[in-house]
Amino acid sequence: MSIEKESDIIALKRIGKIVAETLDLMRREAKPGMTTRELDLIGAAFLNSHGARSAPQLCYNFPGATCISVNHEAAHGIPGSRALEPGDLVNVDVSAELDGYYADTGASFVLDPVSPALRDLCDATQEALAAAMKVARAGVKLNEIGRAVEKVAKDRGYTIIKNLCSHGVGRSLHEEPRVIPSFYDPRDTRMLTKNLVITIEPFLSTGAWSVSEAKDGWTLQTPPQFRSAQYEHSMIITDGDPIVLT
Ligand code: CO
Ligand code: CO
Repeated sequence: MSIEKESDIIALKRIGKIVAETLDLMRREAKPGMTTRELDLIGAAFLNSHGARSAPQLCYNFPGATCISVNHEAAHGIPGSRALEPGDLVNVDVSAELDGYYADTGASFVLDPVSPALRDLCDATQEALAAAMKVARAGVKLNEIGRAVEKVAKDRGYTIIKNLCSHGVGRSLHEEPRVIPSFYDPRDTRMLTKNLVITIEPFLSTGAWSVSEAKDGWTLQTPPQFRSAQYEHSMIITDGDPIVLT
């Protein structure tokens, strides 16, 4: 969506704060021995208590309130009976709706003991998100987002998951521009416009270039020897720095 009135910003900030707080809470509560379903229920209860509805459930009938992906799972992991283990790489992605407005956020983290390799992967992915947000402003080509992500990935020695992209958000979970690649496509002439609402969510990996769907029909995973990390914010494009909603 594109912001048309002040009330759009207020409503987006409201749902943005709720998904951000849900993610923070789940991250704090994640412990070895806990199942991913138990972790999801913590997030579901928080969303519910704020009147927000899980966007994956609402838009896609996803079998969980949030997406929880562990180790070589990159995204859209289904909360279930899997127990978290020490040293696991966990990605929690929270998106939700309130009053017809949507926001989307996500983060990866590692349960103790944190391996230096996974710490570095997470740091590099956060750096890629920050670099992309720095170039994302009105009047700039949309492909500058991918160029910024790609540069950090290359400098830090990681690959980019090319078939997981950032996207427009606001009145639905996924809307125009539906596909914002995390790599530089010189043929992409689309421009970022003032007031546009998008996510930026790079996925960096220790070697995978793409994800494939698991047998459960939802989970997107890399080959088992690889790991990937993602950080995501929803934001409003302006003439300067984006307004971060999450
Ligand atoms: Co997300
Ligand atoms: Co997203």
